[in-house]
Order: sequence, then structure tokens, then C-alpha cells
Amino acid sequence: MSYLAIVHSRAQVGVQALPVTIEVHLTNASPKLSIVGLPEAAVKESQERVRSALINSQLLFPVARITINLAPADLPKEGGRFDLAIAIGILAASRQLPTEALHQYEFLGELALTGELRPVRGVLPAALEARNANRSLVIPVQNLEEAALVNHLNILPAKHLLEICNHLYNTAPISPHYQAVPVIPKLLTDSVDLSEVKGQHQAKRALEVAAAGGHNLLMLGPPGTGKTMLATRMSTILPPMTEREALETAIVTSISTQGFNAENWGQRPFRAPHHTASGVALVGGGSHPRPGEISLAHHGVLFLDELPEFDRRVLEVLREPLESGKIVISRAAHQAEFPASFQLVVAMNPCPCGYLGDPTGRCQCPLEQVKRYRARISGPLLDRIDLHIEVPNLPRTELRGNQVRETSAEVRARVVVARQRQTQRGERSNSRLLPREIEQFCQLTPNDERLLDTAIERLGLSARAWHRILKVARTIADLAGSDPIQTSHLVESITYRQLERKQ
Ligand SMILES: Nc1ncnc2c1ncn2[C@@H]1O[C@H](COP(=O)(O)OP(=O)(O)OP(=O)(O)O)[C@@H](O)[C@H]1O
Ligand SMILES: [Mg+2]
Ligand SMILES: [Zn+2]
Repeated sequence: MSYLAIVHSRAQVGVQALPVTIEVHLTNASPKLSIVGLPEAAVKESQERVRSALINSQLLFPVARITINLAPADLPKEGGRFDLAIAIGILAASRQLPTEALHQYEFLGELALTGELRPVRGVLPAALEARNANRSLVIPVQNLEEAALVNHLNILPAKHLLEICNHLYNTAPISPHYQAVPVIPKLLTDSVDLSEVKGQHQAKRALEVAAAGGHNLLMLGPPGTGKTMLATRMSTILPPMTEREALETAIVTSISTQGFNAENWGQRPFRAPHHTASGVALVGGGSHPRPGEISLAHHGVLFLDELPEFDRRVLEVLREPLESGKIVISRAAHQAEFPASFQLVVAMNPCPCGYLGDPTGRCQCPLEQVKRYRARISGPLLDRIDLHIEVPNLPRTELRGNQVRETSAEVRARVVVARQRQTQRGERSNSRLLPREIEQFCQLTPNDERLLDTAIERLGLSARAWHRILKVARTIADLAGSDPIQTSHLVESITYRQLERKQ
């Protein structure tokens, strides 16, 4: 006797779902089970689960020499997700299941000792790949909502191993889930709204400009002036997500420790990690690399409140993803890449006590201490933040005031139009324009060039500030519906760099 069965499944590396074939070979040499291609600990656990699941489902665990090979060998493979594929392979190789149709399927799922299926992570990227491979996907029913985001894919959800056996035997076929049209993300109603923020007109304007051009934003101000309030409303004025953006964001949550959550589908993420968060929590990592906060914020907002309190080394790591929109995590065995194209919003106080410049003179911070506080944030990081604004104390009249204020939806409508102008011009948002595109799209009149020259000299700005100012001026012109950048657009843009010389 010598029987072979081949079953398809997928491993997860970064955001990729890479193909894994599971070959099960049965001979009548002395009974023994060996699994090749899984880490030792995972093998042991999987072996026990599969054995119990089969026996408890009144199926036969063959008395034979069973060799199972998970190929390719060099992929990192977490145990549980291959249980189902291994079980199906053993059943097929021992003639308890027909082998002919197996190549049409991909299997994902962990087994409970009872033979019931347990959900696994990373089903969304696996579902996209199963569609590309033109195979049906067999998954635990708890993962259906996630897989169903992929259209033109035959999905077979099951609760128990026996259901899948009956399906493969054609005695009780599982009715497939098939979605013809893509699931369009809808704009959810947010729990917060920009209209709740009183006064702070300049800050709100800066928030709108940042949203319209995809610019990063720094807010500086004393405690309690609404910085956190403003930041948490940034995602409410961003345009609705495209299907592609929503899928990319959902893939990151699908492979993260928090797991996929259908409620968040199509909603731009807002992530606000605490300053005590570890480097791994922030940028991703671990022995089986998982995405961090910067990737969970993909296509949304990353808010770092109390910026100087963050570990400086952790902040420095942000520089790479801020430029490239992704993060590469290297491990001895392999590399994982996660997307991390987020909009950065940061807030900080002007000094350790927070009240520097307060008219009551309550700030007693020595100048040296203020300098050290500011120096915790490196120049190169500040340099990647296009807009710097002050969020001052509100006059009491403003706080009491009951004027009608603009809603997030009203601001978002303008942001959407400004973004459309950018899409018509090229593929990148203004914040990501390349130097040659800046030259092409951000031309100034000779007069305005002189104005910018003088401003840069007077404010003592770096050469890099030149490009930042032009990009932001482009966004302001886009918000105004103007093709050329006008003097007023440039002047407003310069105001967003004025804090720099004080840093
Ligand atoms: N402009 C504002 N409009 C309405 N409410 C405000 C405003 N500013 C502050 N508040 C009120 O004060 C509270 C504190 O505001 P918030 O947390 O946004 O301040 P902050 O600038 O982030 O302060 P800190 O520097 O201490 O973090 C808010 O929850 C809100 O109730
Ligand atoms: Mg705050
Ligand atoms: Zn102070």
C-alpha cells in the first residue's frame, strides 16, 4: 500500500498569503506520524488536534506510516491554520475521501478536538489569492464575513469537519457563498463631529488643508485647548475610502492580533497609541511579525499625543514609513513587509509644564529645560510634518458662544473636491509630490518667488522647507478651486512654517 494526497492551503507572511501544499503519504510500514515543514512545537499540537478531531468525528485515524510534508519548507508556518488541510489530506490518503476534486479547493482552519472548526487570522488575503488561483475556499463559518468581502470567489463555510467530508463526497454539498459585485465601503456615521470644536478657526482650517492634501500636522499648545479633540476629528473629514483602500486596510487588521472586524469595514482608521507603547507595538514586529500601529493606521490617521514623551528611538523609526508608506521588518529567517501609508497628526505642549507664554506667567520652566523638551523631537522628523500650528487658549467668549459651526460633512465635501483635482493631475496627493512634479505643478509668479525667498530667509528656514511650503500652497489653491497658486495661497502656506524657527 502506498497512497498520496495533495491538499492546498496558504501561509501568511506580512500581508501576503503564500501557497502551501500539504502532501500526505501513507505506507504500511510500522505506524508512525511525521510532519515535515512545521516548527516542532506546532507539529505536536497540530498532530494531537487532528488525531482527536478525526476520532471524535467517527472517522478513522489510519494505522500506517504517515508522512506529511508542508512545502515550501522555508515559509514561516503557524500551526493551527493548517489543521483542516492536514486532516483532509490524511482522510484522502487513507481513502476515506475522494482525491480527484481536491485540487479545486484551498483549505484554511484550525480544528477543535471535537472536529469543529475554529477561525483563523489572515483569511482576507488568502481569499484574494484563492480567487486568483481559481479555486474554491473552504473556511470556518466564523471567517465567512471576512472572506465574503472578496467578490467572484466560491466560498464554502463549515462548522464541522464532517460537513466538509459530506461536501467532498457529494452526499450533502455545502451551499457556496458567492458575491458577484464588490462590497462598496459606505461612509459610516461618526460618533464625533468637527462642529463640536468651538473657536480654533486657524486650527480647523489647518486640519482641512491637511486632509485635503494628505499632509502631516503638528499642533502646539497649552493643555485643554482642544488639540486631542481636533485630532480625533481628522478622520471624519477625510474622503470615503475606495474599495481598494478598504481592502488594504482590512487585510492589515485581518493579520493583526486584533483580527478582522466587519464593523470597521470601509472606515478610515484612527489610531492613537499611548506614548508608553513599545517599539514593536508601534511599528510592528515579533517572532512571527505582526503589523504595528503605523500599519493599523494605513489609509487613515496616526495620532501621537504628547509627542515629546515618546521614546526618541521609536520616533526615528517613523521616518522611513513616512517617506515610503510601508515598513519592512527583517527577521533572520525572512522579511515581512506591511503597508503604512498614514497621515500623521501630532500634538505637544510648548514646554514641560505646558504653559509657556501664558499671560498669567504661570510657567516656571527654565529655558534649558524647554530646549531639552523640544529637542526630544528630531529635526528630520519635524521636517516631514508639512503643517505646524499653534492651538492657543480660547477667549472665554468663544467657549460660551453658541454660533452655528460647520459640520464634518460640510468640510469633507470641500476636501473631496480638492482631492479630485489632485487625482486629475496625477496619481499622488500633494503631500507626496516628487521634486519634478513640484516644479511642474507648483509654479509661482516671479513676484511670489521673491516673496517666498524673503520669507525663508527672514524665518531662517531650511532649504527643505521650500518644497513643503510649495506643496501646501498647492493644496490651498486646490481647495480654492484655482489652477495657479495665488499670492494669498502662498502667504497662508508660509504661516504653517512659522513655528519652525522657535523649535
Ligand atoms: N475648542 C474647544 N471647543 C470645545 N471644547 C473644548 C475646546 N477645547 C477644549 N475643550 C474641552 O476641553 C476638553 C479637553 O480638550 P483636549 O483634550 O482636546 O485638550 P488638549 O489640547 O488635547 O489638552 P492637553 O494638552 O492637556 O492634551 C475637551 O474634552 C473639551 O471638553
Ligand atoms: Mg491632549
Ligand atoms: Zn512651562
